[in-house]
Amino acid sequence: MPSDFQSWVAARQSHFEGVLRGLLPNPEATPQRLHAAMRYSVLDGGKRVRPLLAFAAGELAGADVVRVSIVAAAVEMIHAYSLVHDDMPCMDNDVLRRGKPTCHVQYDEATALLVGDTLQALAFQLLAEHRLNDDAARQLEMIKLLAVASGSRGMAGGQAIDLASVGKSLTLPELEFMHIHKTGALIRAAVLLGAQCGSVSAPQLAQLDHFGKLIGLAFQVVDDVLDCEEDTATLGKTAGKDANNDKPTYVSLLGINDARDMARRLRREALETLAEFGDSAQRLRELADFIVLRKF
Ligand code: IPE
Ligand code: IPE
Ligand code: MG
Ligand code: MG
Ligand code: MG
Repeated sequence: MPSDFQSWVAARQSHFEGVLRGLLPNPEATPQRLHAAMRYSVLDGGKRVRPLLAFAAGELAGADVVRVSIVAAAVEMIHAYSLVHDDMPCMDNDVLRRGKPTCHVQYDEATALLVGDTLQALAFQLLAEHRLNDDAARQLEMIKLLAVASGSRGMAGGQAIDLASVGKSLTLPELEFMHIHKTGALIRAAVLLGAQCGSVSAPQLAQLDHFGKLIGLAFQVVDDVLDCEEDTATLGKTAGKDANNDKPTYVSLLGINDARDMARRLRREALETLAEFGDSAQRLRELADFIVLRKF
């Protein structure tokens, strides 16, 4: 029998799949191959952790689920684009993603490049054309927030540091900086955007920001651990790639046990930031647990 949390996750995931299907370009429309590749890269796969965080933060803030669905879709499209580019030969050179051939393998490199470009553009189109908050100035702030989280001071900047770090051994603060950007930024944005579709006070938003930062870092620490502990079939992506690509990770720096301890400590700290929200933050707590305890 699924737990209450598992049922909540399954319901949100299935609702969200329908949302994405409706927002992505029609595969019959020209250019058909590009549209098919966009849909291939976004639909039918992934844990949807960022959308789930947005839904949980939206519930905490009493937000309209239609509005949260749009910000969740925008964040997931940026995330999917980051995976398509991350897998390309010029970056991590991976052939398997979400249990399927990577976009550039299934299609070709030029198409994979364009899938990234177009998913990013579509994400911002959605934020501009749908009402996300009754206050237009707040909505502009939300669009800016995702732009910063995606760009050179966010995910893409973190990816640049990741690529420049191959074969090097980073210090712990350098590694933390890289992870907070390449992975943490979008996770943090998902929490904040979900909450800002509803109403939260400035101090509450600051607490949620702190939660997002901690859980975003924990997410990548666990990703590093799983890369060396789990197998390819479980992960749906090639296991052991970090060591093969000579990437600095929490595992290469701290060893597996200390990396695990670090993830557990980050989870504890993240839960502390939610203390004053009471029951309204229950889904966020459960998602923090899922992020640290997951096996894929
Ligand atoms: C993988 O992200 C890449 C990282 C940022 C660590 P996810 O583990 O969320 O990938 P999907 O979306 O579930 O496939
Ligand atoms: C990816 O980090 C972070 C992104 C911005 C995509 P990884 O390179 O560790 O992600 P995986 O392990 O390939 O999913
Ligand atoms: Mg990478
Ligand atoms: Mg990778
Ligand atoms: Mg990884």
